[in-house]
Amino acid sequence: MERDITIRPIEERDIKRLAEIEADSFATPWSEQSFRELLSIDYARYLVAEADGTVVGSAGMRIVAGEGDIDNVVVERPYRGQGIAQKLIEELIKAGEAEGVKEFTLEVRVSNAPAIHVYEKAGFRSEGVRPNFYEKPTEDALIMWRR
Ligand SMILES: CC(C)(COP(=O)(O)OP(=O)(O)OC[C@H]1O[C@@H](n2cnc3c(N)ncnc32)[C@H](O)[C@@H]1OP(=O)(O)O)[C@@H](O)C(=O)NCCC(=O)NCCS
Repeated sequence: MERDITIRPIEERDIKRLAEIEADSFATPWSEQSFRELLSIDYARYLVAEADGTVVGSAGMRIVAGEGDIDNVVVERPYRGQGIAQKLIEELIKAGEAEGVKEFTLEVRVSNAPAIHVYEKAGFRSEGVRPNFYEKPTEDALIMWRR
């Protein structure tokens, strides 16, 4: 089914919902407090995806030393597989490029095939592995860059 997807910057009112999606998606999820803190960080850019008028996902980036460091890419389970993560990443890259960011990086669990697929489609390539980067369960991270 084609849904009406809107991508927009995160707002205070999204935080509760995002923390719920995180808790259902990650072993070490971000809390409401973590989201609240980033709203006040001037070098953080966070986007949310709305489907049918409800927040169903997010993706974020910190711009440090001219590089875009992407994290917290997540889409609520019933809405996965509809291109929403792809849209979030593309909009994040556009937002970064508009501010002069030319290089973007992220880490992803080596077993996370859907996420790796999304990142490769957006132009990211693997440039190395960070051993035992993740816990619950312990797993290596693939370090990906889009240059
Ligand atoms: C990773 C995640 C954000 C993807 O969100 P999404 O909205 O479903 O992603 P999209 O629909 O844009 O794209 C998913 C792609 O993965 C593909 N895919 C699905 N399962 C796959 C698998 N097992 N192996 C390879 N590709 C797979 C889909 O076919 C689709 O690609 P396509 O558009 O070329 O067909 C979502 O699965 C999620 O929230 N996972 C839990 C949190 C997480 O792991 N986040 C990433 C942390 S780095």
